[in-house]
Amino acid sequence: MKYSLPSTSKLLDKAFTFGVATASFQIEGASESRLPCIWDTFCATAGKVRDGSNGDVACNHYNLWQQDVELISSLGVDAYRLSISWPRVMHKDGSLNPQGVNFYIGLLDALNAKGIKPFVTLYHWDLPQHLEDNGGWLNRETAYLFRDYADKITQALGDRVYSYATFNEPFCSSYLGYEVGIHAPGLAKKSYGRQAAHHILLAHGLAMPVLQKNSPHSLNGIVLNFTPAYPLTDSEADNTAAKLADEYFNQWYIKPLFDGAYPDSFALLSDEDKPVIHDGDFDIMQAPLDFLGVNFYTRTVYQAAAGKPFAEVDMLDAPKTDMGWEIYPQAFTDLLVSLHEKYALPPVYITENGAAMPDKLLNGVVNDQDRIGYYQMHLTAVHNAIEQGVNIDGYFAWSLMDNFEWAEGYLKRFGIVYVDYATQQRTIKNSGIAFKTLIGSR
Ligand code: NOJ
Repeated sequence: MKYSLPSTSKLLDKAFTFGVATASFQIEGASESRLPCIWDTFCATAGKVRDGSNGDVACNHYNLWQQDVELISSLGVDAYRLSISWPRVMHKDGSLNPQGVNFYIGLLDALNAKGIKPFVTLYHWDLPQHLEDNGGWLNRETAYLFRDYADKITQALGDRVYSYATFNEPFCSSYLGYEVGIHAPGLAKKSYGRQAAHHILLAHGLAMPVLQKNSPHSLNGIVLNFTPAYPLTDSEADNTAAKLADEYFNQWYIKPLFDGAYPDSFALLSDEDKPVIHDGDFDIMQAPLDFLGVNFYTRTVYQAAAGKPFAEVDMLDAPKTDMGWEIYPQAFTDLLVSLHEKYALPPVYITENGAAMPDKLLNGVVNDQDRIGYYQMHLTAVHNAIEQGVNIDGYFAWSLMDNFEWAEGYLKRFGIVYVDYATQQRTIKNSGIAFKTLIGSR
């Protein structure tokens, strides 16, 4: 039960940051002590979440946070990535809610007291519902309200935070939430997805200078997810399909931040699908970053298709996780190297990587060999990217513990700690013990 890396690997350097990650809506519960958010509404809509569940209790972390800090500490990690629930820390009138703010202050103080660096994400998908009622991310005003939230909460948290990320995975909020509707708020229109993305990237750019001013000593940046696109064959047509898919799903969310423009295939959008862009928006988006967070899970294979730019191919015989996501670690190395070649990147942190597996708790043990295999291969993939010149300073396992997996509810388990939802008992899985051993071996 051990992950192995070459003894000279940068990952084994004490200065490399190892952590575990979660997000507010997925673990906190205690929905009664905050404003409703778009995920509460989505969960309450029949047919949206596979097991019909919601975030009302989740892992009850809001009440069990002290024992969870002990758990995090027992893993020996250097850092913990969490997100702040906007609807918990702000009232409808835009003033701070002291009860919510104090929850995070207590949590951050406890982490710091244990020497665990807090990596805080300001937006991990739980938009206050009253803002959605006003258009949500389709309304440009939401970007300015996000800046105001960022300003107030960072002032309130003072110097307790090691790193701030504005957004987690703008792709998911905009594409899954507004373009295909499988995430909250469940809207499905191409123009909506592209407009939401534009406003989220704008909100990121508006908030960055605020973070730099209020929290000059923290590492401030953003977390993006990537699902590298591969052509099914070497044909020119399949290569073109993969390139267009890569621009649409991946480069769309990073190129504006570094190059101040959308990818070339922006020109292929119909006028009706193009977002409204104001003069100066790209200058705002290009605010310098102290770090880039990269989330990676899988790749997608594409082929050319009649009548559309690309068609996804299901790799039927490939090994997959419980999400049905192909296990293809080479894509992780390829991704990191290609981002490094394409953009003038700041230091990179792997802010999420992990796998859902059909875990069973037997006699107090979760022997999750498949997850151990996944981590071994992906830690090696990160090591290989570093060897090829990519500047990577940290790695966070997704997730600290099993939690609410969005449209999949509680059916998918991503934790390195098992959660028995009936008792809220936490049990470190064998993958977690291996993670702890690796960290402790440095
Ligand atoms: C990305 C998201 O940030 C996280 O919330 C989610 O649980 C994991 N990936 C797994 O799907």
